Amino acid sequence: MLRHRAVISRLRQACRLQSVPSRLCIRACSTNDSLQPQCPSLAFSGDNSSPRGWRVMGTLLGLGAVLAYHDHRCRAAEKSPHIYTREEVRSHSSPETRIWVTLGCEVFDVTEFVDLHPGGASKLMLAAGGPLEPFWALYAVHDQPHVREILAQYKVGELSPEDKAPSTLQTSDPYADDPIRHPALKVNSQRPFNAEPPPELLTENYITPNPIFFTRNHLPVPNLDPETYRLHVVGPPGCQSLFLSLDDLYQFPKHEITVTLQCAGNRRSEMTWFKEVKGLAWNTGAISTACWAGARLCDVLAKAGHQLCETEAHVCFEGLDSDPTGTAYGASIPLARAMDPEAEVLLAYEMNGQPLPRDHGFPVRVVVPGVVGARHVKWVGKVSVEPEESYSHWQRRDYKGFSPSVDWDTVDFDSAPSIQELPVQSAITEPKDGETVQSGEVTIKGYAWSGGGRAVVRVDVSLDGGLTWQVAELDGEEQRPRKAWAWRLWHLQAPVPAGKKELNIVCKAVDDSYNVQPDTVAPIWNLRGVLSNAWHRVHVRVTP
Ligand code: MTE
Repeated sequence: MLRHRAVISRLRQACRLQSVPSRLCIRACSTNDSLQPQCPSLAFSGDNSSPRGWRVMGTLLGLGAVLAYHDHRCRAAEKSPHIYTREEVRSHSSPETRIWVTLGCEVFDVTEFVDLHPGGASKLMLAAGGPLEPFWALYAVHDQPHVREILAQYKVGELSPEDKAPSTLQTSDPYADDPIRHPALKVNSQRPFNAEPPPELLTENYITPNPIFFTRNHLPVPNLDPETYRLHVVGPPGCQSLFLSLDDLYQFPKHEITVTLQCAGNRRSEMTWFKEVKGLAWNTGAISTACWAGARLCDVLAKAGHQLCETEAHVCFEGLDSDPTGTAYGASIPLARAMDPEAEVLLAYEMNGQPLPRDHGFPVRVVVPGVVGARHVKWVGKVSVEPEESYSHWQRRDYKGFSPSVDWDTVDFDSAPSIQELPVQSAITEPKDGETVQSGEVTIKGYAWSGGGRAVVRVDVSLDGGLTWQVAELDGEEQRPRKAWAWRLWHLQAPVPAGKKELNIVCKAVDDSYNVQPDTVAPIWNLRGVLSNAWHRVHVRVTP
């Protein structure tokens, strides 16, 4: 599908430029019928006898011939596939030599797909000239029929019989050492592990118990030895770096705060119902709250000799989790936030009075109150102050918001700022969508939270899809002004209007800047499905 869209956009370009780029000849191995209904720009109006008209006509005829030839080639290849050795595949590892990969015994030329790869071109290039299996083992989200379907379009042949033996890497499981998880978690992906607590457990407690705190991992969980663990804090020019052990960190004043952590993809599944997006289908549970304890980042940076400086600067964090090439998870926050004692950014070593669980960053993670989960780097191994944001994929090529008009053919990640503070959010955790409730009275429960320390001042609930509203009661701890780092749980006990057979329950929160949630997904839909904070809706039936 992606590829078809790319072919269409290239075709449009071809019509505009009035010449067919040679690359198109290779790209055009898709079924012809998918081109026609979607390509209105092919029906040009104007004088066909003009030089422009003839050139475009020539382009189209040429393209038709290429498609026919390629179709013929594809069919021929199906009958007797080309046979390649692993050595030959290895020699195709750059755009100049073309980029080939293998999966099982099949060989694919993915040169034209590299720039379209949703995880970024550089990630796909890691597999250039070799097998995809080690990477699919790491990013198991790939092993799905629609991904295999896309890949099938790029097949150019098969491996020779003596090279068909599975690559040795295929059998090693990078996730074999991951910790054991709580069975109540709803798993969105096993490898890497991503899971959320079910809604009814999520708001059972103001503080989320560690075993059911949502988990968002991009890579295998590293198994770190607390004895040998060192946090590398790079000093400013002319100063020495610090290599802090856990004991060294314990020497800094211990700071404790309750912070809600929310993934940018929380409630992504609601965006998907509107229109397809790329990403894990989180429901309302990619959010949880814990009491974190550790050293303040500003104290550690000051000890290393850093000061707030005039030039725009960022504090970059590197995790100790990495892929087979050694690329680690990374992210950054502005230096001004890191150095501000009031922002309370932590190098946390405790979660709810316990050492951090392995899934949540043992032995040390960053906690950035009021900021998107992606910047709370777990298993943090290195902290440095840089003139630019982190060059990590997750800072520059992910976790950014775009207009609903932007798709994977037009997206320019450099044009959007990285997400830091999140917008106001709320969701209903009880009753659940599709549930049946008793007539008489209904109890509605949920959570509400806003980014940047903005306190939730009100939650409005409607039983009739947003026609009329009632104000819910806010539970949980009062929040400090400008430091409302944690969510408010809320509830409403409301009479069920007589004779109602069903209810369309809706909630929306208001923060202390009077930000409110948008009523629908459509105007905030974005290709990555982040920042999904439209009014939350559940539909329930009422027993007579
Ligand atoms: N840190 C590292 N090193 N590796 C990761 O994959 N995931 C990030 C962030 N920190 C991640 C990381 C994302 S996207 C989120 S939402 C939070 O961790 C989730 O933290 P949790 O798993 O403790 O809930």
